[in-house]
Amino acid sequence: MTIGIFDSGIGGLTVLSEAIRRIPTEDYYFVADTLHAPYGIKSKQEVESYVMEAVSGMMELDIDALVIACNTATSIAVELLREQYPAIPIIGMEPAVKPAVEMNASTGRRVLVFATPLTLSLPKYYALVSRVDDNHIVDSLPMERLVPFCEQMKFNEHEVEQYFLDKLADYDLQQYGMVVLGCTHYPYFKPILQRILPPHVGIVDGSVGTVRRLAAQLHRYGLARGKGSGRVTFYNTAQDDSYNEKMKKALQYLQHNEI
Ligand code: SIN
Repeated sequence: MTIGIFDSGIGGLTVLSEAIRRIPTEDYYFVADTLHAPYGIKSKQEVESYVMEAVSGMMELDIDALVIACNTATSIAVELLREQYPAIPIIGMEPAVKPAVEMNASTGRRVLVFATPLTLSLPKYYALVSRVDDNHIVDSLPMERLVPFCEQMKFNEHEVEQYFLDKLADYDLQQYGMVVLGCTHYPYFKPILQRILPPHVGIVDGSVGTVRRLAAQLHRYGLARGKGSGRVTFYNTAQDDSYNEKMKKALQYLQHNEI
């Protein structure tokens, strides 16, 4: 059985890394839409057409399940994809606001969500926050430069640390108990965040919950055959071999740093 995992770029590898850890007995295709990345600063209409086009190409790979490992693409296209491809399970992402609010409940502190400007502007995000934020403790901060930093493999550099410090300059971090990484590119920056956030601040992202839902869906559809070996085949829409090599290196970085 083969699981397709899709993102605009290397962000979705944070979900792939968790999937290989939890479901190492299946095989994976990872597809990055390098022709159109980054998504998070484009219009809803553009992103919808890019995702539909890329996923239609993925369907030719004969995948048995699909993970949209991108918060922005999920917010815009997951319902449409499920309508168009009803035969396979399609698992999307959402910023882990609900687990963050629950984990934070006893602290009396606030929750800060980092995501792309597009994710934070969409009705799906407002609906999520209004569903789980009864006490109005959730604040949101668009992080427009993190995807480009990540795509340049600047995971742990001074320039990125300074960007975080500038973005957080007006926030009293003592008031916050949790930070949500609401974009699959952001977990690469966990080492920097662990350095700059006060030690009481927890960091949560959506990959664990997404892979848990993937495992449940594989069982539900009778797809969990356990005959693979965690083998990954990389593709990108620009058909650029050097980008496939970059994805292999980025996955190694994540696995080496246990992200
Ligand atoms: C991107 O901007 O291409 C990535 C967006 C995301 O993962 O939310």
